Amino acid sequence: MKKLVVALDGPAGAGKSTIAKAVAEKINYAYIDTGAMYRAVTWKFVQTGHAFEEEFIGELSEKMVIEFQPRDGVNHVFADGVEITDFIRTPEISKLVSPLSAIPRVRLAMVTQQRRMGEKGGVILDGRDIGTVVFPKAELKIFLTASVDERAQRRYKEMLAKGIDVQLDVVKTEIAQRDYQDSHRAVSPLKQAEDAILLDSTGKSIDQVADFIIKKIEEKAK
Ligand code: CDP
Repeated sequence: MKKLVVALDGPAGAGKSTIAKAVAEKINYAYIDTGAMYRAVTWKFVQTGHAFEEEFIGELSEKMVIEFQPRDGVNHVFADGVEITDFIRTPEISKLVSPLSAIPRVRLAMVTQQRRMGEKGGVILDGRDIGTVVFPKAELKIFLTASVDERAQRRYKEMLAKGIDVQLDVVKTEIAQRDYQDSHRAVSPLKQAEDAILLDSTGKSIDQVADFIIKKIEEKAK
């Protein structure tokens, strides 16, 4: 079977990372969580305590080495050799990640790494611009969405399970704001590629969505 490049794009909380992880495990593909890469740069930037300056952040992102290690059902994230998996999904990082990922130099640095990680195929990448910019020739493109209420509910439960103390309406506002910023930025905005399959996961289980994608991968890989 041919090893494809699969692009999975969509708004915040649509379930991209859960689905991508499930698909990758089932068919033995690599999973690249590009959102985690922008979050990793944001985390590193916060550590520096520096003012929000595009040039400084751009340079920081170019020097960073980001790696993934899937283990025990968790996609562990490393920045310059330091494990940061548990530090990159806090409300502080979620708030800063959209303005930071709108910086052209940061995007170029991340996209370059993503292309290198995915060039051999047998890979699923999730993000906002995979099918439009990173791999415009990906053999399979899925645009995953769900209602904003359902996305907020899912993210809220996920955060509670991790012991992060939040309120549902705060999560909903954060998601809506991030969607707006991601869709309206000048460089690589969140939008469905023309040749992407629109998949609404509202009311669907993880397995239902993952199985649908796997079927499509198998069809294309023949
Ligand atoms: O998991 P969630 O959908 O909340 O977000 P994420 O995938 O971790 O992405 C976090 C943020 O990174 C997004 O809101 C975007 O601002 C940015 N991002 C991006 O600009 N391009 C990507 N390919 C992936 C993420």
